[in-house]
This record gives sequence, structure tokens and C-alpha cells, in this order.
Amino acid sequence: MSDLRSTDQRRSTDTPAAAIPGQPRQVHFAAHFPGVNNTTVWSDPASGSHIEFDSFSHLAKTAEAGLFDFFFLAEGLRLREHQGQIFDLDVVGRPNTTAVLSALAAVTKHIGLAGTLSSTFNEPFDIARRLATIDHLSNGRAAWNVVTTSNAFTGENFRRGGYLDYADRYRRAEDFIDVARRLWDTAAGDGSFTHGSDFFDISGRFPTGALPGGHPVVFQAGDSDSGRDFAVGSADVIFTRHSDPESGRKFYADVKSRLARYGRTEDSLKIYPGVSIILGDTPAEAVERSREVAAQQVSEAGAIAFLERVWDRDLSAFDPNGPLPDVPPAAESISQGRVKHIKDAEATIASWRQIAEAEKLSARELVIKVSTRHSYVGTPAQVATDLAEAVRTRAADGFILVPHLTPGGLDEVVAKVVPELQERGVYRTEYPDGSLRENIGLPAARPAADWAENRDRARSVHTDAELKEVG
Ligand SMILES: Cc1cc2nc3c(=O)[nH]c(=O)nc-3n(C[C@H](O)[C@H](O)[C@H](O)COP(=O)(O)O)c2cc1C
Repeated sequence: MSDLRSTDQRRSTDTPAAAIPGQPRQVHFAAHFPGVNNTTVWSDPASGSHIEFDSFSHLAKTAEAGLFDFFFLAEGLRLREHQGQIFDLDVVGRPNTTAVLSALAAVTKHIGLAGTLSSTFNEPFDIARRLATIDHLSNGRAAWNVVTTSNAFTGENFRRGGYLDYADRYRRAEDFIDVARRLWDTAAGDGSFTHGSDFFDISGRFPTGALPGGHPVVFQAGDSDSGRDFAVGSADVIFTRHSDPESGRKFYADVKSRLARYGRTEDSLKIYPGVSIILGDTPAEAVERSREVAAQQVSEAGAIAFLERVWDRDLSAFDPNGPLPDVPPAAESISQGRVKHIKDAEATIASWRQIAEAEKLSARELVIKVSTRHSYVGTPAQVATDLAEAVRTRAADGFILVPHLTPGGLDEVVAKVVPELQERGVYRTEYPDGSLRENIGLPAARPAADWAENRDRARSVHTDAELKEVG
């Protein structure tokens, strides 16, 4: 199924909306598979398996019925720990990303298949070959979210000794992507390659033959200044946490303003914030559902564990339904395997105390308030209007929808929000012909050497300008 509207509606526009010049900016959707994270609700009776293939295929097929650009898998290479134990509020089990995507290639036809793979703990030849294989199996639908992995704990199960410092993780990632792209370039010829650099010294023949999509689409998901430069220098798509329109617009303007220096057009790098959608038949019902889901997302034990990660100490003696713990934070590291978002614990705790006192919130209620903001809450019509507005005002090019339920968490969005967007003329009514690049609206793949040259030029110009300023 590739068109959700009636046949009569379809007849009135036989050209895909995205291709008509002068059309309003089009909304794009992608699907994030709910897995090990704070937002997935495993206690809900509607919650299914996070590891059985039916779950992956249900979500991917729903997203494809909704004409989404791609299906997205995050990756954690090690189970998270809390106070030295496996974190028991997580489900256990993270299957291999590329194996799952390969299986999905067989049960889908149009949707992109995006997998997160760390450039810190893998080797370019192996990753390039795995992605090339998915690209072949799916006829040009492979994508790779390149993460640098923010902690050594996560990668201790790999052979490579030691852990790179922050800057070197990004240098390795850039080199890694260049090598992968070179391998994909050579696949169109005889496959032979040699590459020598600080990180890799490899040679051989790349064995897959030319890829149907040219190069798999490359995503990036770091947020720092280095992360943003890495994205404009090497990526086609950014997955960002800037989900509210105001911070989204700032992020969007900042990242897109860096592109020209790298010889790139605004449309060559797409920005997709991760967002959550809660629907109701009336605005009041949607708000009520959002409250219920937030309460499910933060159990009593979950609230204490959340606070322990900020306080960095054992808070099990405190009542989640009582006030915030009246002890200062410690400098232990209580949890392993998570990205730490809060840099200044003391300032954060002080501001939370103020909120909790002013609004008379218990510890758990405070955690619900600060950790579960749903991005779009309303009737399908309201949500469609707000999403279209976010794209029109350049807060995003598309959205990675993060449902709280596996595997049915996007059924309602596809049934109700997609048709609303189509009626507004801001959502396609059929898939374009071609590879994932066409789904997303990206230009054709550029050779690896182009990326490296543009980056070198951009960075030497930058350094010259900085030198002039200093001089
Ligand atoms: C939206 C988003 C999603 C991420 N997903 C993953 C992931 O699935 N697996 C992983 O190992 N790291 C993930 N990361 C971590 C990044 O790769 C990176 O290590 C981290 O953000 C620190 O880099 P930064 O300081 O540039 O933000 C994610 C980061 C962001 C912002």
C-alpha cells in the first residue's frame, strides 16, 4: 500500500507533491524503533516484543504504508548498568542492527533502512561491506547513522584496546566515512583500494559490485560544535534532539549556515529532529492522554533511577512520592552506557528544587515534568498544522517519530495525521521512483574525494580567516 487517500483524490494529482515547483515545503516522516530508552513503555498491555521479527516488520510496514522516508534503529553495544548492575528497568537484548535491516529489506519495498553503527569500535571495510549488502538486498535503501559513542564502557567488548579522546573520535569518524565512501566508489570499478592514514592502513579489493543507491545515505547524531562540523563535512542527514520548534530553528539556521563554506547547498543536508506525537479526538483528550503516557513513562523506581543519574549517588532511601532528596549531588558515576545530557548537576538540581517547591511537586512528579515533554499533543488536524508550520519555518526538514509503544506506536499517526498532511498538500501521496536519496530529496551521491577536498578547502579558509583575525 503506498497511497492512503481515496482513488478520486489520487486522480486529481498524478505528480508527486514533492516534485511540484512552488509547492509548500513538504513534511517528511521517519520511524524510530522504540527500544532501550527512557520513553518506551514496556508495562503497557499493548506493548509487544522488542526483539521478535514481527515487531520490526510491523513498525517498518506501518511506516511504509505512511510513505515514511526511512525506518531507524539506534544501537547500544552493551547493556546499560546502574550501580554496578544491569539496569533492570530496561528490556534486555539488542539484536544486531545490520542483520535486522537485512531481514526488513525482504518485507518492504520503498522505505529506507537506517542503522546506527559506531565509527569508534568498528572497521571501515566490514561496515562498508555490510551496508553495501543491505543496499543490494533493498535496491538502494541503505543508510548509516554514524555515531562516535560517548563512553569507553560501551565499547569494552571490542578487541581494539584503549579509548580515543573526544577530538580523535571525530577525526576517526571522518576518516572512517571517507574510507567507506572510497570503497563504495571502487565497487563501481574493479574494487581495488589502498588507504593509509593515522587510523587505517588497509588495501585490497572491495567485493560487492556497484551499489544500487551509489552510496548509502550517511547520518550524524552528535550535537556539539565538533559534531555539527562533522555533519556539514561528512553527512547527508542529521538526527537531532532539537525537537521544539524554537530550539530547532536555531539549530537549523546554525547548521545550514555552515554549509556554503563546505561547497554544499542547503538542500544537501537534511535535518530530522526526533519527536513524539500524542493524539486525541479533542484537544483536552490529547492532553489527558499525554499525562497518562508520561505517568507510564516514569514509574516510581524509574523516577528514583533518573534522579540517581543526576545526583550520581544512591537515593534508594528516598520516597519517590515525597519531596526531592535533600542531599547534595556526589561525584560518583552511578550509571554506565548512557549519554550524559546534564553537565552541571548542582545548577540543575537547584532549578528543579525551585520548580518542585513553587508547583508543590513530589520527586516523581518533578521527574515527569522535566523528562517527558511530548513534542506534539493534539487532534490529528492540530498536530498536522503544527508539524507543517515547523517545516515551513525551517525548524526541521522532516521528523523522526519516536513512539512510546512497540510495535503499534505509529499506527494512529499513519491513519490520522498523514491524511491530514496530504489534504494540506504538504505530504507526498506516493513514493518517488528510485533510491532512498529520492525519498529524502537528496542530491546524487558525490565521490569520496569530493567530500575530502571540500572539507580541506573549508577548513583551510577558516584557519586563514582566523589567522587574519589574530594578526
Ligand atoms: C539524537 C542522538 C542520537 C544518538 N544515538 C546514539 C546511538 O544510537 N548509539 C550511540 O552509541 N550513540 C548515540 N548518540 C551519541 C553520539 O554518537 C555522540 O557520541 C554523542 O552525542 C557525543 O557527541 P557530541 O558531544 O558531539 O554530541 C546519539 C546522539 C544524539 C544527539
